[in-house]
Amino acid sequence: MKKITAAITGVQGYVPEEVLSNADLSKIVDTSDEWITSRTGIKERRILRNGASSDLAAAAVEGLLKKTNTSPEDIDLVILATVTPDYPFPSTANVLCDKTGMKNAWGYDLIAACSGFIYALSTGAQFIETGRYKKVIVVGVDKMTSILDYEDRATCVIFGDGAGAVLLEPNEEGLGVIDFILRSDGSGRQYLIQPAGGSANPASIETVENRMHFVKQEGKQVFKFAVTNMAEVSAEIMEKNNLTSDDVDWLVPHQANLRIIDATANRMGLPKEKVMINIQKYGNTTAGTLPLCLWDYENQLKKGDTLILSAFGGGFTWGAVYLKWAYNS
Ligand code: UT7
Repeated sequence: MKKITAAITGVQGYVPEEVLSNADLSKIVDTSDEWITSRTGIKERRILRNGASSDLAAAAVEGLLKKTNTSPEDIDLVILATVTPDYPFPSTANVLCDKTGMKNAWGYDLIAACSGFIYALSTGAQFIETGRYKKVIVVGVDKMTSILDYEDRATCVIFGDGAGAVLLEPNEEGLGVIDFILRSDGSGRQYLIQPAGGSANPASIETVENRMHFVKQEGKQVFKFAVTNMAEVSAEIMEKNNLTSDDVDWLVPHQANLRIIDATANRMGLPKEKVMINIQKYGNTTAGTLPLCLWDYENQLKKGDTLILSAFGGGFTWGAVYLKWAYNS
């Protein structure tokens, strides 16, 4: 019997229509287009005024089902990566299944911040590889504006809202997820955190007054860890699989900062043309960045292309996925 791998057979993204540009932000906080562009590469981001993460996810999933000609009732499992769930519980995956008619699916949320999509993709792939399921949807979604402090210029300029979803199906041609390396280090948790609203600091008047329900980031610390570890793990997955820079067709990096992306590409020996970049349009959408990249670049991808997906985020969490693209669009 041939080995079954989990192939991505479709990808769809969704970003809200409303654009918040660097110039718009400079009217809210003391910042400038020059600062944001030179430090991060971001020019604008999309924001959702009304609606929840499940609405962003539902728009992506509805598009995905349509373009892959898949009935919602045929989906077995949904794994949804997010740090901005609709509610602490029930899970946003549950809400999403209800909103999109995926009546026969079960699902759950996965928290791994900016590494959420690669954690979820690697997990979802297991259910296909074992032969247990035929159709698994993996979603990366965040409505970051729901936890942004528009008095904190160091964080509110970085993030945006968006969602992306992929369909995983069995493949017997050796295409799809080939390998992954996933890591975490909880000792870095204080550097990138939403401090309140969970069981450690339940919501109270104090937590609200102290603005503890918003994202807190020590940017410099996170940058230091991210720039080293994202580059290291990407090089490590290449070595582990005997891939040279010529073998890699695309780096799909988490979109947190253009300088971190450049460092990762350099460490892998990849030229700019092989690096997916859309940070200028969407900012950092946390779990959304990787599927949004795949969506934006889908029509440039060819069957058999070698992709390395790579991310770093709060936790700390980080890792890389090596996959072979399974279709021509
Ligand atoms: O996605 C999950 C993982 N997250 C990341 O990978 C993010 C990693 N970190 C970063 O990308 C960068 O640290 C940032 C883009 C967040 C910040 O860039 P930085 O070069 O590390 O700046 P900084 O935080 O050290 O701040 C430098 C200066 C400070 O002023 P002083 O103290 O030097 O006078 C800040 O107050 O820039 C100031 N600053 C700003 N100025 C204008 C901070 N935010 C802004 C702003 N506009 N928006």
